[in-house]
Amino acid sequence: MDETARLEVDGKTYELPIVTGTENERAVDISNLRGETGLITLDPAYKNTGSCRSAITFIDGDEGILRHRGYAIEDLADKTSFLEVAFLLINGELPSADQLEWWRQSIRYHTMLHEDLKRLFGAFPKDAHPMAVSSSVIAALSTFYPRDLDPHEPIEVANSVLRLIAKFPTVVAYAYKHSLGQPFLYPDNSLRYVHNFLRLMFGTPCEPFEVDPVVADAIDTLLVLHADHEQNCSTSTVRLVGSSHVNIFGAISAAINALWGSRHGGANQEVIEMLEAIANEGLTARQFVDRAKDRDDTSRLMGFGHRVYRNYDPRAKVIKKKAEDVLNKLGVTSKLLEIAMELEQIALDDDYFVSRRLFPNVDFYSGVIYKALGIPVNSFTVMFAMGRLPGWIAHWVELHKDRQAIGRPRQIYVGPQARPVPPLDQR
Ligand code: ACO
Repeated sequence: MDETARLEVDGKTYELPIVTGTENERAVDISNLRGETGLITLDPAYKNTGSCRSAITFIDGDEGILRHRGYAIEDLADKTSFLEVAFLLINGELPSADQLEWWRQSIRYHTMLHEDLKRLFGAFPKDAHPMAVSSSVIAALSTFYPRDLDPHEPIEVANSVLRLIAKFPTVVAYAYKHSLGQPFLYPDNSLRYVHNFLRLMFGTPCEPFEVDPVVADAIDTLLVLHADHEQNCSTSTVRLVGSSHVNIFGAISAAINALWGSRHGGANQEVIEMLEAIANEGLTARQFVDRAKDRDDTSRLMGFGHRVYRNYDPRAKVIKKKAEDVLNKLGVTSKLLEIAMELEQIALDDDYFVSRRLFPNVDFYSGVIYKALGIPVNSFTVMFAMGRLPGWIAHWVELHKDRQAIGRPRQIYVGPQARPVPPLDQR
């Protein structure tokens, strides 16, 4: 027999279906609640609200588990490349060798930006944040492909998906090149995805550019680790904005802005700024942790805490190890990594963090490794966006496959009751 929950209101009992997911997550289905009872549910910040059914990613925040389409993130990070994970997220299965070859070729074909679009970069100040530049350029891409914007035409969607994945590294690199006043390179389609990106970022037309395989491998792993995280703020933005049937470029542009905030992807930049401030101000890790605990101080221990994980973020574990490996291989010592490890140790032993179940999240160590790899600090968040892009796309595709209605939450109104507009001289 199907399970139900009972709700008693005004002496009447209502039966509400209980929905169970493949990992036994349970939800009370309240979609008919208002029709039957006149009531809505109130859940600011959606701490307790499932917005959809999704077959893409599973997270168990208590156990620290993250799986994409059933595959553990640790396994994917160990055995697959970013483009394989992108294929998995968007298409549902890992690609065969032939499919992977086709996928790589198709993406390579679309790496250039229209020459007219390149001029848009020049309109931004040199110190424009790359997230602002990227969200603008991605929205602007829609104007160059007006024949491929219908969310209900599979071929048009497939073209736009390839363009987004192919052009995003070019956009990120051009935002950086513009900030330096250096010329934009054309993509080199003989290179692999990350190698091409590194050349676009750090190469110049005057000298040959050698990609360091240690750096390329570490960036690839970081992209894999960021590829999806179910209904986080930016992905929910994709779903909400996408539900209006805007084209995919518009939805992804909105997601980039959602990711930019310091409580979300922007935290990776803030972590490194925090570590640098600790080093520059000569603070001890203990002193900073005490500040982060102080309610009268606005500092938070950036890179700590997560809405879903009440355990160590599995991505942070992989990144921490990768950071140590990469620094060893590159022969670099990092004062910032030392401070980060000390902060972590103190926080994990401190009752404030223990009692609130605050652990390092994906952003805690990613900045240290990006910095060691030579990525400029204000590009950290846009690196996160490059990694998260396939996840956003997968959710946009799923939203349309499931024919989800336009997202439209309700509210409890707490403003003034009806009143007449007073004449101007009586206000
Ligand atoms: N440092 C100090 N205290 C913290 C921290 C932190 N990093 N995170 C949470 N807390 C405290 C809060 O002050 C609050 O304490 P209280 O109960 O005494 O009021 C309690 O822990 C719960 O915190 P909330 O903000 O209510 O938790 P929520 O689930 O809403 O927020 C969030 C999660 C936004 C990630 C939060 O932990 C945070 O701001 N962390 C720092 C920013 C960060 O690293 N963001 C990246 C998240 S991962 C990602 O987006 C990829």
